[in-house]
Amino acid sequence: MSESSFAKRAIKKLIYGIVIGIILVVAAKLTHFPFVFQVMFFIYALLGALVFILLDAPPMKPLQGGKAVMGLVLFYVIVSGLYIGGATSLPQYDPEVEKGKIEKILKPRRARTQQGKVEELLARAKALDEKAEMIAKQLQALGAGKIEEVQVASAGPVGGAASDDIIAKGKEQWELQECYNCHKLFGQGGKKRGPPLDNIGNLMTPEQIREKILDPKSWMAEGYEKEYKKGKMPDKYKDLMFPEEIDALVAFLSTLKNPSVKTPKPIKMK
Ligand code: HEC
Repeated sequence: MSESSFAKRAIKKLIYGIVIGIILVVAAKLTHFPFVFQVMFFIYALLGALVFILLDAPPMKPLQGGKAVMGLVLFYVIVSGLYIGGATSLPQYDPEVEKGKIEKILKPRRARTQQGKVEELLARAKALDEKAEMIAKQLQALGAGKIEEVQVASAGPVGGAASDDIIAKGKEQWELQECYNCHKLFGQGGKKRGPPLDNIGNLMTPEQIREKILDPKSWMAEGYEKEYKKGKMPDKYKDLMFPEEIDALVAFLSTLKNPSVKTPKPIKMK
């Protein structure tokens, strides 16, 4: 086969590859495959075309001895390099981390089942029992005359611990709901373009933050008109999250008051 007819056939096959690739991408889009998969399908179509093009390639001069070994090693190095390079350029997931996240999301849902409820009630009863015992001991120590003071004293630390707890839970929701995919916080995350939220606690009241999470169209970050119109921020959290999970997330976001990070001004839309 002459060189020019090889080139012609190669171009023809490449065009076939691209056309098949586009068809695959459209089909993947229609069936809601993530973007990474769409890209991969396109790459696969091109790789397929490459294989068919290679079939047409003029035969090489046979290599022998040391040259043959070198050729083999070189081929191996190039192919491995392409594979490893390609694989590391894709997003990395640690299956254990993902499993842990799913477990955390499922746990409170499981607790809602009848069995879970019973366990929850038992645990709560036990905690209350312990608290009652503690108060009784304190009463004994102080004498019955100072009942009121004892109650105030024991209510103090319990309340404080609970609010720390809710903020920690809210931070966990930030991770579990993957808000960090779009929003930079503490200098981390925000790969998909969304505003950093380090100062949101100074710009929105807890109630307004809740509105934004429940209905992303209710507020718009100044300078993010395009993203707002496209509906970039998902409108799914009201369905995905339990009210107390939203409470916790709102409590956590309300603590974010760092004016040195520019968080855009929220504008009321509806
Ligand atoms: C897919 C990307 C994406 C995800 C995920 C996402 N957001 Fe957003 N968010 C945006 C974009 C883009 C904006 C700016 C446009 C707008 O206001 O709608 C925004 C705006 C906001 C604002 C208003 C900021 C301001 O300065 O006005 C808050 C608050 C917010 N998001 C909270 C959250 C929380 C909490 C989560 C997780 C439960 C979350 N977002 C998940 C994309 C996202």
